[in-house]
Amino acid sequence: MTTEESPLISLEDVMLHYGGAPVLKNISLSLHKKSFHFLTGASGAGKTSFMRLLYMGIKPSSGTLKIFEKNVSMVSSEEKCKIRQRIGVVFQDFNLLDHLTVLENVALPLKVMGDFPTHREYQAKEILDWVGLGNCFNILPSALSGGQKQRVAIARAVITQPDLLLADEPTGNVDEKIANKLMSLFYGMHKMGTCVVVATHYRQFVDKFHYNELNIEHGRIIDKTKESSEQ
Ligand SMILES: Nc1ncnc2c1ncn2[C@@H]1O[C@H](COP(=O)(O)OP(=O)(O)OP(=O)(O)O)[C@@H](O)[C@H]1O
Ligand SMILES: [Mg+2]
Repeated sequence: MTTEESPLISLEDVMLHYGGAPVLKNISLSLHKKSFHFLTGASGAGKTSFMRLLYMGIKPSSGTLKIFEKNVSMVSSEEKCKIRQRIGVVFQDFNLLDHLTVLENVALPLKVMGDFPTHREYQAKEILDWVGLGNCFNILPSALSGGQKQRVAIARAVITQPDLLLADEPTGNVDEKIANKLMSLFYGMHKMGTCVVVATHYRQFVDKFHYNELNIEHGRIIDKTKESSEQ
């Protein structure tokens, strides 16, 4: 059971490599309920790799990663599915299912959770309207622009009001007005209790919103907010 005080995510001395030199080294940190983190770092620094670890797409090469208090190296595939139902993910390459319509893509997480068809359709339409895609319900993803696909991916990630939201470059393909709107969506979720992690190159947002900044450099994650508040 996850208590109010225990972190949603904890990493202890986590190391990740893909066979060669380590991409992430000796990472020890905790992410708590209702917290908001920007994940920054140069291209190739390891932001997507860190997100993949948190989504259990890959396992740490060594060290301990606990998600919702479960050690990911020891969970069964059934437990992994349950954990994933509590995580919303916006992948850098969107990961939409090409054979499903926009509406079906967005409603899919609710379908997996066993929600009624009428309810999940209503919810999906509402969030698609909100992200400005109210006229795209029955379109296949292949007919959408990059920015539209990105908004579908975001709608799908937030529809279940997850405990953890991982968004990898969620505003990379949209204009500033939409990017601000999407940020306000993430802000609203964070206020409702979701732990939000946003990987971004968009310095403007990191400077504008005074959230925690986790910066990856040379394989280490530095908590820049903590660093600057301690000075
Ligand atoms: N599946 C993989 N196999 C081998 N190496 C990989 C794999 N995925 C990522 N890498 C390597 O790990 C390093 C970190 O990649 P990652 O995609 O995590 O960076 P990133 O910070 O997300 O970059 P970007 O800002 O360009 O998205 C890079 O050197 C990359 O080449
Ligand atoms: Mg990346």
